[in-house]
Order: sequence, then C-alpha cells, then structure tokens
Amino acid sequence: MTEKYENFLDFVFYQIYPRSFKDSNNDGMGDLRGITEKIPYLLELGVNAVWLSPHYKSPGKDGGYDISDYRAVQEEFGTLEDFREMLDAMHANGIKLIVDFVPNHTSTEHYWFQEARKSKDNPYRDFYIWADKPLNDWVACCESAWKYDDVAGQYYLHCFDPTQADLNWENPRVREEMKNVLDFWIDLGVDGFRCDVIDMISKDWENNRMNKGPHLHEYIRELFGREKCKNIFTVGECWGANVENIRNLTGENRGELTTVFQFEHINRNCRSRFEPKNFSLSEFREVFAKWQKITQENDLIYTLFIENHDQGRCVSRFADDGALRYESATMFATMLYCMRGIPFIYQGQEIGVTNSYFDKIEDFDDMETTSFYRAYKDVLDKDDLWNLINFGTRDNARHPMPWNGETAGGFNEGAKTWLPLYPEYRKINVEADKQSEISVFRYFKSLLGLRRQSEALRRGIFEDITGEAKTHFLYRREYDGEEIVVLCNFEKETEISLPEGCVRLLGNYPEHENNVFAPYEAAIYKKLKR
Ligand code: GLC
Ligand code: CA
Repeated sequence: MTEKYENFLDFVFYQIYPRSFKDSNNDGMGDLRGITEKIPYLLELGVNAVWLSPHYKSPGKDGGYDISDYRAVQEEFGTLEDFREMLDAMHANGIKLIVDFVPNHTSTEHYWFQEARKSKDNPYRDFYIWADKPLNDWVACCESAWKYDDVAGQYYLHCFDPTQADLNWENPRVREEMKNVLDFWIDLGVDGFRCDVIDMISKDWENNRMNKGPHLHEYIRELFGREKCKNIFTVGECWGANVENIRNLTGENRGELTTVFQFEHINRNCRSRFEPKNFSLSEFREVFAKWQKITQENDLIYTLFIENHDQGRCVSRFADDGALRYESATMFATMLYCMRGIPFIYQGQEIGVTNSYFDKIEDFDDMETTSFYRAYKDVLDKDDLWNLINFGTRDNARHPMPWNGETAGGFNEGAKTWLPLYPEYRKINVEADKQSEISVFRYFKSLLGLRRQSEALRRGIFEDITGEAKTHFLYRREYDGEEIVVLCNFEKETEISLPEGCVRLLGNYPEHENNVFAPYEAAIYKKLKR
C-alpha cells in the first residue's frame, strides 16, 4: 500500500442525512446551514470526514436519491452559496467532505428524461433504457422494473422507484455528462464521492442480473481513472460484490474506487429488507474476520459500518435496545472501529438511537416501505405486517436527529417535521446522553481518541484470536511493536481468558479482576511487551 492509500486509514467518517440532521429555519426540513451549525459537534465527537447523503435538487420520492438536477442544491436545503459556506467551514476545521453521487438513475423529472420521452429521435432518448415490451422479469419496489410511459409510447427500465429511471451507460454521452457532474463538484472543492449502487451502471443482460455487467470496470475507470480524480476518495455501494469484484474495483492501481461498502454482515439477519432471519452475533465475527483477512492480504481498504440511512438501528436490530442499550451500542462501536479499515458512523448511532414503531402508513415516507405496504396490506395479518414494516423500514434511520428533550428534540423550533419525530427523543437525545453516567457519546469519543493515538489501531495488522468460541470476538492489532487486544463479549456472561500482559485502556463496564465478562461487555487493551 502506498502512503497515500495508507493515509486514507486515518479517516473517520460521519454520515449526514441532510433532511434529518438539523433544521436551521424551522420549516420542518433539515438543511445545509443546520449542518454548518453543528460542525462543533462533529469536532467534539472526533470525526475528520463527512459523507453527505444527496443534497441535490430532487422531488424527494426516494429521499433525494431521485435527482432532477445534478448541479443544483435542493431548495429546502439551501443554496449553492450555503453549500460553499458549509464546505469552507468543514475544511477550516480539518473535516473532509464527500458527497453522494447517484449515477445509475435520475428522477423522471430530470430534463433528460422529460426530453427523452418526447420522441424516439429526441437527442436524449438514448439516455435511458427503452423497450417495446419488458425485456426481462426484473422486479423493483414490489412491481415490474419496466414501466410503460404514455408519452414515450414505450417501456423504460427503473431498478428502483418508477420515478427513478435507469440511465443508459452504454451511451457515451451519458458517461460524458456524468464526468462533467463529477468535475463540477470537484471544482467546487469536495474531497470525494460515495457512489450510489455503482455496480448497477453496467447491466448484465446475458446473465439476467441488474448489476456487475461486462462494462462495469471500464465505465468506472472512465470516471475515476482520470488525472482530475487522482486525489479524491471514492467509496462505492456494491450490494452484490464478492472477493474478486472487490479486488478489481478497489485495487490501488486499478484507477477505479478507493473502497466499497459491501453488506455481508448486515444481510446476515434478513433475507430481504422486510424478511428477518435468525441470526447470532458470532456470524459478525465470522464475516468480519473473513473480510479483514481478505482486504489485508490483498492490500485493500475495508469500510467499517453497521448503520446508514437504509438500515435499522444496530442496537435494535442486532442486540438489546432496552436495558442494555448503552452496552450494545458501545460493544458494536468497539468491535467495528478497532478493526482495520475506515470507520463510518451514521448520525444518531453515536448516542445509541433505537428503532421506532409506527402503525399508520401516513407516518412513513420511505418508498420501499409504502410499496411493501401496498403489496402486502391485504395479504398479511395486521400484526405481522406492522412487525415486518417496522423491522425493515428505512425510516428507522431517518427520523429527525434528537439533540435534546425539548421542543422537536431540538431539531427545529416546532414546525411539523417532514417525518415524525423520533418517538424516544425525550429520553434518548444528545444532551441527555452526554449527561448520563453511561454515555454512548463519551464512549465513542474516547474510542475515536484512542484510534487517533494508536498506529496499531489505524494501520496495524489484524488477527482473529477468538479460537473456536462462539460467545465472543477477540482480536489483536499490531504495528511496529505496538500491540492492541480487543474483546467483545456477545449477549451472555462468559468466561474468557485474555492473552498475558493485557492492560486495559477502555471498556464499557467497570474494570474487574476476574475473567468473567458481562453481556455485551467490550474492552480494549494494550499488550505489554515481555
Ligand atoms: C442506494 C441508496 C438508497 C437508494 C437506492 C437508489 O441503495 O442508499 O437510499 O434508495 O440506492 O438510489
Ligand atoms: Ca429547514
């Protein structure tokens, strides 16, 4: 790994979903000025990079992932000037900013689509994928991925909501336009991109697959293999990626991506978004240890995340969001952010926000949820329906950020919010958490502080030393003579023997002499040299 690549391991990202972070003008919608206001909070937590979910002009059918103008800021979020101000303020405070880049589809309100549908010889027609009848049986949002457009007189492909039309990347003009979009934001000063479902830009028609088509690498190299992108950071969302894909997508000399998000761990407790599956925490250990080994052996960069704007809250989904909420939240943080790779924290995760429960469809916004509801409301038993929805809904991650226990949780001054407030905001919020004797935020802060000080935690080799046990995860990191041991106990009290010479640096329970570890206990040790 070159030094440039190794330096990426110093990043600690915080993901902001702009609609829900902070509403500075009390119109019910989060905005860019709200983000700027909260920069001191990010500094206090100890992150040095931000991933901003889409801030572009959009009708908002898919929370902004349906872009109608790649160069404009969503009006409700502010102006390009506000964006510049936010970016400058981040840079002035040593925070890098990567923005979302959504290359696979545009909103049907985008000018290109509005033109394309007009006629077969419109210059934009080939920007999208048209057919006289569906070319396959692909399904999107519980219906056919092909929708007939009256104006166009043909079907178009949409791998997500019908208002998100897939772009035709086989058309060189589309690729040219997308390069220009990247350059626009690079010229403005952003430090990189999170690339939305990037493995879908090349469809595999032959094998009947929406992603990983034959031109994927070529297209990505065309975007990012350029001189202009030499110093930017890119992370691609790749649902279907296996080892070989990832090696090719992120190998340092490939000119493609810096790293990817892959979802093997997240997918362990569900068959699909609304279909939970039996799961045990030892599967996390298995998946993480496997990917640590692969990325280490291949000199690749791994992403360390457990939440984002599409996933339920980790304490609710994988552990205990009641009595042991603090322990669960801090155990996951320890497990993840002491491994080798780049930490990503999703807003609210740092105070242990939990999943919510709603049973009226009006209280949801996520289009995957509303389409699931439409498809199953008359099929499933009521309780089952709402349990599945509340398990899978992406809105779990999208309720306004609870800053305090007062009006609107401090998100705004009381104007009706675009999505209901987080129901637990009076109890679980930044202010209350910070004042608590057991504060998730403080633990995150100490953990990130440790990571900053320890080369072993950032750059060291990883080794799983758990042995056969399924009750916990024990691993070590080592760099230049510095050795760190990390222990994460799963849900039951367990007797665990640590390697000799371990001195505790941080833990989520009081330190104890014996080697009996409590449910979700986590601790980090420095190993003394013999
Ligand atoms: C990605 C985004 C998700 C969005 C989808 C379509 O998976 O994370 O929020 O709905 O792509 O753009
Ligand atoms: Ca606002």
